[in-house]
Amino acid sequence: MGKTFYITTPIYYINSVPHIGHSYTQVAADTIKRFMRQRGREAYFLTGTDEHGQKVAIAAEKAGLLPKDFADGIVEKFKAVWKRLDIDYDYFIRTTGPDHIKAVQYVLDKLYKKGDLYEGEYSGWYCTPCESFWTKLQIEDNLCPECKRPLEEIKETNIFFKLSKYQDKLKNHIKSNPDFIKPRFRANEVLNYLDKPLPDLCVTRPSSRISWGIQVPFSKNHVTYVWFDALLNYITGAGYPYDEEKFKKLWPADIHLMAKDILRPHCVYWPIMLMALDIELPKMIFAHGWWVTGGKKISKSKGKPVDPIELIDKYGLDAYRYFLLREVEFGSDGAYSEKALITRINSDLANDLGNLLNRSLTMIEKYFSGSIPKPDVVGKHDEELKAKAICLTASLEVAMKDLNFSAYLEAVMSVINCANKYIETRAPWTLFKEGKLNEIAAMLYYLADVLRMVAIAVYPVMPGAACNMWQQLGMGSDLAKIKADDIGKWGLIKPGVKINKGKPLFPRIDIKGDK
Ligand code: MSP
Repeated sequence: MGKTFYITTPIYYINSVPHIGHSYTQVAADTIKRFMRQRGREAYFLTGTDEHGQKVAIAAEKAGLLPKDFADGIVEKFKAVWKRLDIDYDYFIRTTGPDHIKAVQYVLDKLYKKGDLYEGEYSGWYCTPCESFWTKLQIEDNLCPECKRPLEEIKETNIFFKLSKYQDKLKNHIKSNPDFIKPRFRANEVLNYLDKPLPDLCVTRPSSRISWGIQVPFSKNHVTYVWFDALLNYITGAGYPYDEEKFKKLWPADIHLMAKDILRPHCVYWPIMLMALDIELPKMIFAHGWWVTGGKKISKSKGKPVDPIELIDKYGLDAYRYFLLREVEFGSDGAYSEKALITRINSDLANDLGNLLNRSLTMIEKYFSGSIPKPDVVGKHDEELKAKAICLTASLEVAMKDLNFSAYLEAVMSVINCANKYIETRAPWTLFKEGKLNEIAAMLYYLADVLRMVAIAVYPVMPGAACNMWQQLGMGSDLAKIKADDIGKWGLIKPGVKINKGKPLFPRIDIKGDK
């Protein structure tokens, strides 16, 4: 067995409960894991929570709790939401976990002994919400360049990490590995940033100012900067440094997923930390876009964020997952509105996919008493549909190479549309009047086999709906165990098998007024 496919999401701050933005990264990662599994790859999916730092300390204080007790409560909320979203992660890492803490201290010690960390005087401007320091040159009007909130001027002794020592090596790595930072234009952003001299990174905070953090092993007056602690989760969650066997199976990570707002820590600090530790770099860092409303990023700090659970309760999990991945190209921003969600559900899922399944199974019941018919007389139209369906595999692989989920789903929808048109062209109601039952048999067999392929193809995105389709088609096996190869194979649905027509997969939703 080769290397396990290792995929990560950011570890989320616990000062808010999960909203649509967090759920987006989770659904994408979950889809990739299922996609890899269908291709026979072992896959490991790491997610978790980022629990140190001032933001969390402040939120805990507001709630009248100790940070760790506060964290315990929120973590349960995160886990409950991921369960509702059917997120099949393998390990949930918490940065307050003893193994992680020990490993972070191990790393600090190692880099200190190596001479990559040094003590120095810090004076600069600090943004508490972003937990970021800025230099005079980087700021305007005393506002944080990232979030535009006021900065605080601070002077203190801290430990610094010599980023500049690895700057050229990182630049070369980015230039010679086109898949390292994706989408490609993000790599150019990082390279532009790396064109200027890289300031050393302040990796500690004085315990007198912030006590909620990992104790620095060689300096009792300091705790670890939350980003330095958090980034290490990707290796500590994979066993580093104590479980060598696990680490060897997982590392390097195949994909680190995140949104564009945390590109810099992931594409500058993180690779340099790995270089300093002599650890191979991840294969791909993919920054997706933001869900926005009224042109602004959806977030806790900007009003009531969109709640995934509310939407799932109203429209169903599969529809929600489908919408997230189909609506915008992964990498671009997406404007969220409930109306857009409903329109997408009605057009793609109710009218196209749901309707295709429903009308095909209704005809199998009506003309063949609910048994898959045998295709004896096959014509040009049948063969055209078959050819289209068999080509699907190639389009799916191409789309997923770039994590282009919308193209992936578009490819599936294009087969569904062909199948719907094929029914119109074949006009089974006329064939029936003409007594051409054998032509209807071929048509329904072809439709059933195409629907079988479609179920496998949509499984990574909509596991629930796909399993439902599988059941209705009378496929007795467990769809979760079916391999993607079967999409490209024709004739795997067996004539004579009884179907189990159920309720419509995606009922149409009425749009009441403008939502
Ligand atoms: N704790 C850091 C990450 C440390 S990783 C070593 C952090 N946490 S966060 O809670 O702010 O989560 C940021 C991530 O949440 C984004 O990278 C993205 O995955 C997701 N999103 C949060 N809001 C989002 C949108 N509005 N749109 C899309 N994704 C968003 O940063």
